[in-house]
Amino acid sequence: MRFDILTLFPDLFSSFLRSGVLGRAIGKGLVEVRLTDIRDHAGGPHRATDDRPYGGGDGMIMKPGPLSRALKSVERSEEGCKVVFLTPQGELYDQSVAWELSRLKQLILVCGRYEGVDERIRESYVDLEISIGDYVLSGGELAAMVIVDTVGRLVPGVLGGELSNRNDSFEDGLLEHPHYTRPRVFEGKEVPEVLLSGNHEKIRHWRRLQSLKRTFERRPDLLKKARLGEEDKALLAGLKEHPPHD
Ligand code: ADE
Repeated sequence: MRFDILTLFPDLFSSFLRSGVLGRAIGKGLVEVRLTDIRDHAGGPHRATDDRPYGGGDGMIMKPGPLSRALKSVERSEEGCKVVFLTPQGELYDQSVAWELSRLKQLILVCGRYEGVDERIRESYVDLEISIGDYVLSGGELAAMVIVDTVGRLVPGVLGGELSNRNDSFEDGLLEHPHYTRPRVFEGKEVPEVLLSGNHEKIRHWRRLQSLKRTFERRPDLLKKARLGEEDKALLAGLKEHPPHD
């Protein structure tokens, strides 16, 4: 899978792209990330990429010229390519959007700065607008990193085994169960006995219950859309009858 990131701050991405799971995926050639500096496509003596808004008002707007030239400079795969503009006005991002995007061959991510971009860029070049949450970032770069990271993990081979992301929070619509590692006692707190039992069925059941409990306590909104089996529904009914905090 290939990502092209159009940004005024390409340096922001360097350590991000070298680290962890994503760094390894890039090293193995499973994921490719190319950066395009929008300023390289600006004209004039000052290479300006922003200008004042028509109609007046505060803030500066990204000029359409440099952005359209930057977009045209990106080599595109013939199919499975989408241009995504990162903006708080976009569709709210979640794991299901990440899965949809992971089926594409190429994503072109446009990072805005200043007050916004000239509307004609959105109209002529953008397929999809995405927001990573209801807050305002100083630019789309952090949002682009979120997308590259979350989508990159879903590319086959990136996490090693097909099973590796099946247990992640949100994959079945629930939050993850708690995790423990050595030592067995830490600052006086013991690892739950069941995890030391060696009984895989009991452990699976305990983890599922914890997962449901956490979701019920912290994000009950997720339960409406979660993929629940008969056992889950029974456990959940028990939780509703005897809420964990009672
Ligand atoms: N740019 C600024 N804020 C943003 C957000 N919340 N999501 C995506 N892009 C943004």
